[in-house]
Amino acid sequence: MREELRALWERTLAELRNAGTEEELLEIRTRCLGRKGLLTGLLRNVGTVPPEERPEFGRECNEVKEDLSARIDELLAELAAAKREEVLLGERLDVTLPGRGVRHGRLHPVTQVKEEICRIFSGLGFSVVEGPEVELDYYNFEALNIPKDHPAREMQDTFYIEDDIVLRTHTSPVQVRIMEKVRPPVRVLSPGRVYRRDSDVSHTPMFHQIEGLLVDRGITFGDLKGVLTVFLKQVFGEDTALRFRPSFFPFTEPSAEVDIRCVMCGGRGCRVCGQSGWLEILGSGMVDPEVFRNVGYDAEEFTGFAFGLGLERIAMLKFGISDIRLFFDNEMRFLEQF
Ligand code: DAH
Repeated sequence: MREELRALWERTLAELRNAGTEEELLEIRTRCLGRKGLLTGLLRNVGTVPPEERPEFGRECNEVKEDLSARIDELLAELAAAKREEVLLGERLDVTLPGRGVRHGRLHPVTQVKEEICRIFSGLGFSVVEGPEVELDYYNFEALNIPKDHPAREMQDTFYIEDDIVLRTHTSPVQVRIMEKVRPPVRVLSPGRVYRRDSDVSHTPMFHQIEGLLVDRGITFGDLKGVLTVFLKQVFGEDTALRFRPSFFPFTEPSAEVDIRCVMCGGRGCRVCGQSGWLEILGSGMVDPEVFRNVGYDAEEFTGFAFGLGLERIAMLKFGISDIRLFFDNEMRFLEQF
C-alpha cells in the first residue's frame, strides 16, 4: 500500500508539471483528491495494511493529500494571475494620446445671411412670414401685374407643374398673399426658396430670395431709400456707398435697383463688378396701384414699397465666393469655412 501511495504521489507530481490549463488541474484534483478519488480509495483500503503500520500510513496519506492540494492551489493561482495580466495588457490605455475632438456643426452661409437680414429688419419692426414654393400662376404673375402675354414672364425661366401652377420664380407672390389677409399697416419680410430654369457660375435652378413689403398711409420713396440704406449699411458696413438706379418691375412704379460700391475693388473696377465699380444688390420700388387693386387696397389711401434680393448673391459678396454652385455641392471643406 505504501508503495502504491508513493507511486500515486510521483505520478501526480509529473502530471502537475505537464498540466497547462485550469481544466487539467481541476481534473487532476478531482481524480486524485476527490471524494471518489484515488487517494480516498487507498485510505478506504487501510485494512490491508498491517495494524502497526496503519498510523504511519494514515499520516503519509494526509501528507500526500496536503502536498498535492497545496501545489494544485498554487498552480491555479498562477494561472489566474497570468490570465489577469493578459486582460490588463489588452486594455492598456495611452493617456498621453491627444483627444478626438468634437466636430461642431455650423449654419450654412446662406442661412447665416438670411438670419442676419431677418434680424436687421426685425429691429425695424418687420415680421417674418412665409409662402408656398409651389404657387399658382395667379400669385406668381397675374396679381403682380404680369399678365399671360407679358414679356417679363420670359425674364423668369419658369418651371411649370401644370398650366396654372408653377414653382415660384420669386418671393414676390408672398406680398399678394399677405395683403389679401391683412389690412395696412403691413411690415413683412419673407425669405424662401425660388426656382428658375437656369444654371451657370452665377445661377442655380433653386436659390433663395428675401422679399420685403411695407404698406401704410403716407409711405414715400424717401422711406424706401431710408430703410434700404440702413439695411445695406448694416450688412456691408457703415462706409458702403449706395446708388439708386431707375429700373422697371411690373409690380412697382417707380422702380429702382440698388447698387453698392464694389466690395472687391472698392470702386476701381474689377472682374466681379464688370469694371463698373458697382454691384447690383436688390430690386425695389413703390407698390404699383394695380397690385393694390388686386388685393382690394385703396391706392388713394395707402402707399408702400417693396424690395427683393437674392441671398446667395449677398453671401457670395460678403464671403468672397465666386461660384454660386459651391453653396449646394455640400462639400464639407467648403462649408466648414463659415
Ligand atoms: N421679384 C423680383 C425678382 O425676382 C425682385 C423684386 C424687384 C422684388 C422689385 C420686389 C421689387 O419686391 O419691388 O427679380
